[in-house]
Amino acid sequence: MRYDDSMADNSLSPHLFWQELAVDKPQRAARLKQKPMAIWFTGLSGAGKSTVANAVESVLHARGYATYLLDGDNVRHGLCRDLGFADSDRAENVRRVGESARLMVDAGLVVLASFISPSLRERNAVRARFEAGEFFEIYISTPLDICEKRDPKGLYRLARRGELKLFTGISSLYEPPVQPDLQLDTSQLCLADCVEQVVTFIAQRQ
Ligand code: ADX
Repeated sequence: MRYDDSMADNSLSPHLFWQELAVDKPQRAARLKQKPMAIWFTGLSGAGKSTVANAVESVLHARGYATYLLDGDNVRHGLCRDLGFADSDRAENVRRVGESARLMVDAGLVVLASFISPSLRERNAVRARFEAGEFFEIYISTPLDICEKRDPKGLYRLARRGELKLFTGISSLYEPPVQPDLQLDTSQLCLADCVEQVVTFIAQRQ
């Protein structure tokens, strides 16, 4: 990882330096024979982000890519277990997983990240941490009424009854991407078509 000015911004620990590492990203990527990148899936709960990302990883893995999938529900059991769903907690959640994705891209991986990530500003802040051609945003644009009908975890029902606060789309805002790199509505497209579009998108940028 090269030093850049954004890394100097640590007001809590001013006495820090940047350690130059002998092995760099191009060398790691060359070993894995791939172009590392982060594919960021954003959309409402129940939109199909994790289903698509999971199926995409299966195909990529079978084709020999070195991958990792960061998933909202999973990282909230560990890395982000101390965070809830207030705006400030979601912002920190997205920042942490964005930084994790960046490290994994530095390690040479093709990273898939599946998070509601409702705030335009926080998603743009993540994008700004990557080099050009390394970060792509996929908007899973399945409409709210379809997500609510699916309600795979029963959370929309709880949110409508007021038993679950700050639920995205009901009592907490979702800001759609303005110019996503790819947009997929899983109520219009079948899973196989969504997967094909994402895998083709990645393959074309290798
Ligand atoms: S994010 O807003 O911080 O990006 P994240 O993707 O990590 O959210 O987690 C979303 C998952 O947490 C949902 O799929 C759902 O299962 C669960 N969840 C629990 N409470 C909420 C809530 N208030 N709003 C949205 N999702 C919630």
